[in-house]
Amino acid sequence: MPTMRLAPASTSDYRRLAEKRLPRMLFDYIDGAAGEEVTLAANDADFKAIRLRQQVMRDVSEIDTTIKLFGEECAMPLALAPIGLGGMMARRGEILAARAAEAAGLPFCLSTVAICSIEEVARAVAKPFWFQLYMMKDRGHVRELLERAKAAGCETLVFTVDLAVAGVRYRDVRNGMGGGVSMFGKLRAGAEYLTHPSWVHDVGVMGKPHVFGSLAEFYPNVKAASELKKLIDAQFDASVTWKDIEWLRRQWDGNLVIKGVMTAEDAVAATDAGADAIVVSNHGGRQLDGVASSITVTPGIVDAVGDRAAVLMDGGVRCGKDVAAALAYGAKAVLIGRPWIWALAAQGERGLKTLLRTLKAEMEVCMALTGAPTIADITSDTLDKT
Ligand code: FNR
Repeated sequence: MPTMRLAPASTSDYRRLAEKRLPRMLFDYIDGAAGEEVTLAANDADFKAIRLRQQVMRDVSEIDTTIKLFGEECAMPLALAPIGLGGMMARRGEILAARAAEAAGLPFCLSTVAICSIEEVARAVAKPFWFQLYMMKDRGHVRELLERAKAAGCETLVFTVDLAVAGVRYRDVRNGMGGGVSMFGKLRAGAEYLTHPSWVHDVGVMGKPHVFGSLAEFYPNVKAASELKKLIDAQFDASVTWKDIEWLRRQWDGNLVIKGVMTAEDAVAATDAGADAIVVSNHGGRQLDGVASSITVTPGIVDAVGDRAAVLMDGGVRCGKDVAAALAYGAKAVLIGRPWIWALAAQGERGLKTLLRTLKAEMEVCMALTGAPTIADITSDTLDKT
């Protein structure tokens, strides 16, 4: 295990550094998942169980990790997933992440419940970023958000469909993230701040305002961090069906990505409703504990969708080998959630840039040693099925 003096090399190194730097409740919020965290563990374990076939003596002097996603060139088949409250983990965190992604040639997706607003992120980068949307009960607010995203240059909308209700996350309940904190809980939170002075200075004080940047004008009295669950319960629309996607499709003429699909039937319904792409995702195990890992359901969904839409996946991608494995399972690209927020919390923009370089370098090694010099060469034959 690295000490502070050793450079972080893996996502788990960044995770440990993030744990040191963040007050407990914030680390638990990014690190934790729903219930007993069975699905979180499955996402991880099922990737770790995948074996690749080492194939040698191919000409791998040139390795090309690039792909085109929605007509845009990406340095590798990977995007930064939407993460709510990212700006609580590093000062104006979403800006740092958007910049790091842009420098790495990768898409960044801004969450509806990010600290930095659509406009703040747009001012920090030159290239279009993706915007993630949750359906609000007030469709006027939804329309306004879409208009703002469009005006900010966003061409890709990621509509998340697996948060009709908020998952029950035990770590957040224990830390009082769901509200209703006892006096003892408040004292414990105070002690956490006292023992994390660098976070308090850098983010707690200098990183303000801590509001849901893009939603602040609609819900000015909602405090980010402590009131996320309250916001979901009060404002997110649990009555949404595929009919609403058809409505959304009419409002949004850019790329539409449906995120949070775990079955072939839902994937087909999403494409029928007009999705250009879907993300096979269980929200990193944060919603329905006990659902399968996303990598295990990916091949069936890829088969069902065929070439009607691009199939992306997320959940448990922790290294370049996992990216290669997801592609061998049929995904067009992956998203990473915790890895980027751990790196950002640990070492800010510099840490995230290093992590993204590492993931690409690992992917290149995988491609070279499986005899797959281009992305198109990664197929089910890249897997060791013995
Ligand atoms: C998320 N995720 C998420 N998804 C989304 O559509 N909107 C959001 O605001 C959030 N917020 C969020 C916060 C935190 C702390 C985490 C860890 C995750 C889910 C995220 O986009 C992605 O689906 C998962 O994180 C992928 O799993 P891994 O990479 O974390 O294993």
